[in-house]
Amino acid sequence: MIVSKTVSDCRARRAGLGRLALVPTMGALHSGHMRLIEIAHEHAPHVAVSIFVNPTQFGPREDFSKYPRPIEHDLALCEKAGVDLIFNPDVKAMYPDYAPGGAGITFRAEDKAGAVAPESPPAEVAVDLPQLSSVLEGRFRPTHFRGVCQVVAKLFNIIGPQVACFGEKDYQQLRILTSMTEELNFPIEIVACPTVREPDGLAISSRNRYLSPPERQRALAISRGLATANADFKAGARQANRLVTTVRNILLDPTPASAGDAASRVAMLIDYVAAVDALTLRTIETIEAPAVIAVAARVGNTRLIDNVILK
Ligand code: PAJ
Repeated sequence: MIVSKTVSDCRARRAGLGRLALVPTMGALHSGHMRLIEIAHEHAPHVAVSIFVNPTQFGPREDFSKYPRPIEHDLALCEKAGVDLIFNPDVKAMYPDYAPGGAGITFRAEDKAGAVAPESPPAEVAVDLPQLSSVLEGRFRPTHFRGVCQVVAKLFNIIGPQVACFGEKDYQQLRILTSMTEELNFPIEIVACPTVREPDGLAISSRNRYLSPPERQRALAISRGLATANADFKAGARQANRLVTTVRNILLDPTPASAGDAASRVAMLIDYVAAVDALTLRTIETIEAPAVIAVAARVGNTRLIDNVILK
């Protein structure tokens, strides 16, 4: 397995590989990421994984500095999963002029050999899909998707994959990156991976490790609410309002039979429960085309997102 830390080395190493599927990650790999790697193997003879905690997608009060970075463990998992190439740059390699808290990312243009040309004027780049990025997560994390698009566009240009795999767990991200790929004509096929869950339903996330046992128990209301709405949809319910209310009621009920006392004392703060069109992410009243019910809620200090795709 090749581990590359710089843009120029990654480009050189990638050139030696043929058709390639990329799995972009921020590391702290779990079974959701590993499923993406498996799916990547089904789409190309070579698989690359990027491991980079991207500062530009974190808000000022978010967990960038405390985001877990167990790189040795991640590398061992990738090696076992048959990954060919790891791209694990540091912030300086991706954003030579990055300054935390700056208004945006400025960078110097690279010459053809990939060397930084110090005399180039600073430029600011934003890849923005305002319609898709301003709703749902965008209302609570206004600069988040700009950072995601920025880093993924860079990864696409550095690694040049034929296929890129993203999880449905972050449905809005998947939708935005699919649209970005189409709009900017990246010759890359985007492959979606269904959400991987714990046996009890909790969507697997690197942030689940922040949950105390009672909080984790309380968090199960999210997947339970979404599963109930999906069952209602399958039974014929088409009124978006009704399904959203079902989810909200389950989220707000602190005393389901299965929860212990401690779990029922944990607060659940809902950021949103929304039924949206699966393509436009616009709120819908009646579910006709494929739709998504998306949830973001804070359980203790941990913000969790989850969704169900109604088809
Ligand atoms: P990260 O949170 O590490 O997730 C990497 C990929 O794994 C994303 O495509 C995400 O949707 C997918 N994923 C996470 N949990 C999953 C689960 N339980 N089931 C299925 N897929 C899951 O998402 C990011 O990183 C970043 O925003 C990134 C795209 C790498 C850009 O920095």
